[in-house]
Amino acid sequence: MEKLVIEGMRRLEGDIKVQGSKNSSLPILAATVVTGKSCILHNCPVLCDTSAAIRILNYLGCKAVRAGHTVITDSGDLKRYDIPDFLMREMRSSIVFLGAILSRFKKAEMSSPGGCEIGLRPIDLHLSSLQALGVRTTESDGRIYCDAPDGLHGAKITLSFPSVGATENIILAAVAAKGTTTVINAAREPEISDLADFLNGCGADIKGAGGGTVVIEGKQDFFDYEHTIIPDRIIASTLLVSAAVTGGDITLNSVNTEHLMPVLPYFEKSGCVLFTNKDTLRIKAPRRLLSPGLIRTMPYPGFPTDSQAGIMAMATCAGGTSVIIENIFESRYKHVPELIRMGAKITVQNTVAVVEGVSALHSAVTQATDLRGGAALVTAALAAEGKTSVRNIRHIDRGCERLEDMLTQLGGKVKREKDTQKQSGED
Ligand code: UD1
Repeated sequence: MEKLVIEGMRRLEGDIKVQGSKNSSLPILAATVVTGKSCILHNCPVLCDTSAAIRILNYLGCKAVRAGHTVITDSGDLKRYDIPDFLMREMRSSIVFLGAILSRFKKAEMSSPGGCEIGLRPIDLHLSSLQALGVRTTESDGRIYCDAPDGLHGAKITLSFPSVGATENIILAAVAAKGTTTVINAAREPEISDLADFLNGCGADIKGAGGGTVVIEGKQDFFDYEHTIIPDRIIASTLLVSAAVTGGDITLNSVNTEHLMPVLPYFEKSGCVLFTNKDTLRIKAPRRLLSPGLIRTMPYPGFPTDSQAGIMAMATCAGGTSVIIENIFESRYKHVPELIRMGAKITVQNTVAVVEGVSALHSAVTQATDLRGGAALVTAALAAEGKTSVRNIRHIDRGCERLEDMLTQLGGKVKREKDTQKQSGED
């Protein structure tokens, strides 16, 4: 077990390149299964989750190797259509392999992902959408069995909620189905557009990705393709928070500022000055932040739920009262008691969190409870007096490529250390 130890109150300064997007890499790695061709993916972050996706590819019989931030795959000789439980457990998002495997084999078998730290995370929309495409699904003993004896066919699918994962699974299943699939109320997140751009580059015909209606014309012939994963907008916003809470002045390189539009107004409201170009973004923070106001998490282009914990960390040390409403996941306030240990004043009632800004946070021993919540504790610790420990950082490592190195590069004092103490609930 490891922990991060953060010495707070150091102003962040300098330039940093933002890592590639985890949430784009995972469906695109799954999509390499669909084409049966060779793919080269650049800017793929080195993370536990991307390594787990590569292990799944290898298990299925896809040749997949990593060379730094590039992953080279060849799925010409795919042999298996099942994902064993031990691989499913490594990464919850492996459900996105369902559509990809079905597209290739017309059958698939994997464990049900179940709930996780941030909520129940059902997959009913994934399964009902696949059924509309001609897939029969059964669940027993925690396993999902799918087949499409007559092949997959196009359909008109209206999602009752614009689920990111369900939209990805529909696209993956429909690219090689017979006929046209139309998805209404599709998720509009930039990661959906990146998946569609990748598949279109491979020979697919997907129109409208990034908008509410996506039309997929099934194709049979795909080509070798080389693609660069988009920058990670959530990591970018974590770095913006880190600069904001330390009164810093940093420039993010290799970002897509368009993707950050839902979060940028809240930094401006807090008194930060932003200088934006297409792919660079400088933030200059004031000595004392103002409250970011009222924040409601919503599907894109609304405020991202993945940045909710980060903006809360910022609100804890801003002047005035902020209100956060979490509309996407039901258990996404687990970082609150940990922030309170650092002196934050937060009350939560159902989906609403009220944050009274304090003049200074103080050091504490804290636990990362999930990926984004854990990263938020590290950013809050940057603003705290003294040395704060964030334990259980395996959660943070799922999505951040060595957060301590990013912050150290910007002048922060953040060290990864062995954690010799027992974790609670561990034996
Ligand atoms: C993805 C992201 C995650 C982000 C989330 C919302 C990845 C790997 N993960 O997760 O970081 O926080 O989008 O932006 O890309 N729902 C159902 N039934 C379903 C599917 C979803 O009720 O079949 C509900 C979920 O419980 C949740 C909401 O819809 O309340 C949003 O989920 P969804 O958009 O599917 O998120 P994920 O794809 O799981």
